[in-house]
Amino acid sequence: MSASLQHIPSHAQTANPSQNTPIGELCTPSRREWLGGAGGMALLSMLGGLSACASAPEAQAVAATAKPSGPLLGFKRIPIDATDSIKVPEGYVARALTAWGDPVGISGNMPAFKWDGSNTAEEQAAQQGMHHDGMHYFALDGSKRGLLVTNHEYVDDGLLHADGAVPWTAAKVRKAQAAHGFSVVEIAQGANGWQPVRPSAYARRVTANTQHRIAGPCAGHAMMRTAADPEGRTVLGTLGNCASGITPWGTYLSGEENWHDNFAGGQKPTPEQRRYNITPEGWWRWAQHDKRFDATVNPNEFNRFGWVVELDPMDPSSPPVKRTALGRAAREGAVVAVTADKRAVVYSGEDAHGEYIYKFVSRDQIKPAGNGLTAAQANRDLLDHGTLYVARFNADGSGDWLPLVHGQGPLTATNKFADQGEVLVKARFASDALGGTPMDRPEWVAVSQDRREVYCTLTNSSRRGTPEGKPVDAANPRANNTMGSIIRWREGPTDGGDFDALKFRWNHLVLAGDPSNERAEAKGNTVGDTFAAPDGLMFDARGLLWVQTDMSARNLNAGEYKHAGNNSMLACDVRTGEFRRFLSGPMNCEITGLTFTPDMKTMFLNVQHPGETPSERSDPANPRRFSNWPDFRPDGRPRSGTVVVQRVDGGVIGAA
Ligand code: FEO
Ligand code: CA
Ligand code: CA
Repeated sequence: MSASLQHIPSHAQTANPSQNTPIGELCTPSRREWLGGAGGMALLSMLGGLSACASAPEAQAVAATAKPSGPLLGFKRIPIDATDSIKVPEGYVARALTAWGDPVGISGNMPAFKWDGSNTAEEQAAQQGMHHDGMHYFALDGSKRGLLVTNHEYVDDGLLHADGAVPWTAAKVRKAQAAHGFSVVEIAQGANGWQPVRPSAYARRVTANTQHRIAGPCAGHAMMRTAADPEGRTVLGTLGNCASGITPWGTYLSGEENWHDNFAGGQKPTPEQRRYNITPEGWWRWAQHDKRFDATVNPNEFNRFGWVVELDPMDPSSPPVKRTALGRAAREGAVVAVTADKRAVVYSGEDAHGEYIYKFVSRDQIKPAGNGLTAAQANRDLLDHGTLYVARFNADGSGDWLPLVHGQGPLTATNKFADQGEVLVKARFASDALGGTPMDRPEWVAVSQDRREVYCTLTNSSRRGTPEGKPVDAANPRANNTMGSIIRWREGPTDGGDFDALKFRWNHLVLAGDPSNERAEAKGNTVGDTFAAPDGLMFDARGLLWVQTDMSARNLNAGEYKHAGNNSMLACDVRTGEFRRFLSGPMNCEITGLTFTPDMKTMFLNVQHPGETPSERSDPANPRRFSNWPDFRPDGRPRSGTVVVQRVDGGVIGAA
């Protein structure tokens, strides 16, 4: 989600009152030697070459033909751009594939998009939602046919409704709810390139009113029960679906990020509601017409969001599942690594000022498909049993994973943690008590399985070092951090540690910035092309680290971002630390949601909120838009959508 919005959901609020602020030295350039330069090459040699560089699920998905040869950065850089278009390197082509309002392809229910915004809630529930974010390609037939699963993070009510958000009505709340969640769209590559397949037996929408199963230690817990669900085991909807990940057993993971903005807390919210950033009326004002989102009436409904959601795209009849063992937070997303003994380790950050980075280690080993079960079915409970940890980044470059286990340390009934369920529902409180490190808005996490390294974007935090924010510390070393950074760690006290280690070592891949900025702290130390506000992050199967930016749309090409151009995507060779700009998006969008076909010859990514204005909640229809992407119709509306990128010569994306 962009931080440009006037309300700036969780990003504008610092709800973490803890004093968890390890004070240390600034990140020194010497730390960058950890992987860069000679040190990095030595490590690479030790690991036996580039084939070691891949995230676990991607590595399993990639074809042998994608093995790298030659330099990782094999494309020609593009300059910054501020036009209302997508720019890619010489030799590449990019085009929009699908967008908000396109029918997903449910048989017998494929309503056309109406350019005047007059589609009903029922029609919207069969069309792609708004504000595309995380996404993954699940192969049905290798690199020729597959499913694109896409998150829809939030909505722009000024664009969604024919007459904008004024007056505010129950029908508009229902349509907004129908534009949230996930889309599952089948696509295939034919004579006209990639196209949606409609109808498709896999086509599906999950919305803010789709029934989800609650699984793990909080299922049935008193804090999860409501009048509509006295058992505390099912919940309608998913909200704020931001970043994505996948599991080795073929399912999709989505983080519920800014769900709190959909709830109203009244004038006297509880400390628990305040700690999770509730506001009196709720930014989206759903509570005015849907009492489910009025936390003064239904306080426990608020506890039923903020989870990692798992979806099996291959089984359209299976309910999405909220995995409570992973804790409740402003979940950006979740990605999976695998231990040597085949247990799953799920990394996740929460994008809010001064909140935390977590990992979850499964108790059980990942099971193969068999005995009539798919891998997804064989591992349907895998993420319900295990241990959740919060990260503490020490000033000396070491780190500790602190377990959120009831009865251990401060997590006792005396401290208002009655049981493990309450520890997980109140994960932020537990992390405060344990001494986790409050971070500068952790966004996406990327895992390099064979390097045993994990990277996380800390997008920015203008509050760092201010009275309302956290003091600077070693891991978050810059006050008024408008530029952001990428932090990374290796598990174990020394090299060779596995992903379940209780200690780690960390440094910064980069402090992003603009070398010409007057402020010393905003200059950064980027090697190669500069950028600000890193958000999306993913290793491809060749080992390139892709970085997507989300600078505030309100401030784009102004202020601290005056030299930055539109939001963009870069690739980094983490051996050298060099960044190279690959793609620039249309005006006032953010770039997000990256995935590849197994042969690495097609890249899909998402453009979110092109043309965003600072006041998307209440604008009347189309008064002032900065983009008309991707349709460029005089009567059109800017639409979030999916872009397909290929090489003219049919080669591997990013390679020479
Ligand atoms: Fe949804 Fe933190 O971006
Ligand atoms: Ca962001
Ligand atoms: Ca994001």
